[in-house]
Amino acid sequence: MRMWASFFSLLNVALVLMNVIEHGSAGITSTFIRAEWAAADIPLDNKVFETPNGYNAPQQVHITQGDYEGKALIISWVTPDAPGSSKVQFGTSEKQYQFSAEGSYSNYSFSSYKSGYIHHCLVDGLQYDTKYYYKIGDDDSGREFRFHTPPESGPDVPYTFGIIGDLGQTYNSLSTLQHYMESEGQAVLFVGDLSYADRYDNEDIGARWDSWGRFVEPSTAYQPWLWSIGNHEIEYFPKLGELVPFKSFLQRYRTPFEASQSSNPLWYAVRRASAHIIVLSSYSPYVKYTPQYIWLKEELERVDREKTPWLIVLVHVPIYNSNEAHFMEGECMRSVFENWFVSHKVDMIFAGHVHAYERSYRISNIHYNVSTGGCHPIPDKSAPVYITVGDGGNQEGLAARFRDPQPDYSAFRESSYGHSTLQIKNRTHAFYNWNRNDDGKKVPTDSVVFLNQYWASNLQRRKLKRNICRGSLSSVAAF
Ligand SMILES: *[C@@H]1O[C@H](CO)[C@@H](O)[C@H](O)[C@H]1NC(C)=O
Ligand SMILES: *[C@@H]1O[C@H](CO)[C@@H](O)[C@H](O)[C@H]1NC(C)=O
Ligand SMILES: *[C@@H]1O[C@H](CO)[C@@H](O)[C@H](O)[C@H]1NC(C)=O
Ligand SMILES: [Fe+2]
Repeated sequence: MRMWASFFSLLNVALVLMNVIEHGSAGITSTFIRAEWAAADIPLDNKVFETPNGYNAPQQVHITQGDYEGKALIISWVTPDAPGSSKVQFGTSEKQYQFSAEGSYSNYSFSSYKSGYIHHCLVDGLQYDTKYYYKIGDDDSGREFRFHTPPESGPDVPYTFGIIGDLGQTYNSLSTLQHYMESEGQAVLFVGDLSYADRYDNEDIGARWDSWGRFVEPSTAYQPWLWSIGNHEIEYFPKLGELVPFKSFLQRYRTPFEASQSSNPLWYAVRRASAHIIVLSSYSPYVKYTPQYIWLKEELERVDREKTPWLIVLVHVPIYNSNEAHFMEGECMRSVFENWFVSHKVDMIFAGHVHAYERSYRISNIHYNVSTGGCHPIPDKSAPVYITVGDGGNQEGLAARFRDPQPDYSAFRESSYGHSTLQIKNRTHAFYNWNRNDDGKKVPTDSVVFLNQYWASNLQRRKLKRNICRGSLSSVAAF
């Protein structure tokens, strides 16, 4: 065991060294596969799903950004027994709440399940970069939490995001969540597929949404998670009489879509510190003339790289993926949006869906059109890096079959559980890490220094090798 452990740590050091600064080399397929625990959901009586003490105590507390700029939050929770109060009391010192905001609640049914009372409250007019305390619930069963608002947007404002996807509620999910909570992450970019409650039947579907809300509360009550949706949120179940897609998700989770002039909660954008985050929906129409298409075109014009140098896109289905799982499912969105991703110099695109980890080189396939052939991705210094972080650890297990040989566009891939962090330093540099879950610790496994696509384009980079188009397995890698 010892020997293996030190072998793997040596391997890690080697991988980390090889990956520093977006580099040129053939892609790496890590052979490390560790499914630490069976991919089964944690039983409902486990303490990770414990309900808080007190009659009608608020549970499943989660917060998300509530406006475009970062001065508001939406605070959400569920009361199980009675509606109770939708008020949030808050202030800058503990137990002294100078302010309050009034929210509202609703309940819904899903098949034979009846939900508790779901509260959402917008808390706005917050100061930047300030620690707040807040209290929800009625006096005898009230609960208190805290959060820290982001600094005002500016080109050199440091900020650290976590990236988590396809989380579910297994022991592997728990490992991912706990490892993330040990990181310096200040907000989570969630790339879809939350609870996997849709794998259950009838009233258990709602019950597993509830348990998931309690499961993630140790993080979601204290820092915003920015939501994007995955296929497990669709829940289109004619057999159960449930025909309205995204019902549970939309009842339980909020997004600040109106603040970015979106007409739908499933796609939106926010500015946070030095990043402009665009969230897309893989499962809503996006071809030409649709609302999402029109919105994205306009939102890309609103991006101000002088203020928010880092342009990040979240979407559930990966656009470049070399796993057998979900291979080419991102092709339709690629053909519609890839041009814009390149012309607007998007820094990185995070996706989930595939239950493994993968990072691409900067490549594009925008020269291809159906009449010309030549349909291979080629190195493109204006293109984003595509990163799949669908490895949160849900009950469906790992996607362990990568296509062989590793395609040119794939820089690093590994089929094990984990999460990523993106540590933005300033307008030119961001330190990126994918952390594998390992026995009792997280192991930084894929580490890259990203140079900003807008500000760092004149920094010295290795020249692109342009002559790679079809068939060549020599590195697409270029810089
Ligand atoms: C919502 O709650 C009310 C009052 O408790 C209850 O009568 C109603 O059936 C619930 N609605 C749904 C859709 O579950
Ligand atoms: C397809 O590509 C060819 C060759 O690059 C170009 O001449 C043509 O205009 C393109 N067609 C469209 C519709 O973009
Ligand atoms: C930006 O951050 C990087 C990494 O910490 C550092 O090397 C670089 O000097 C910084 N640039 C500026 C302009 O401060
Ligand atoms: Fe998915």
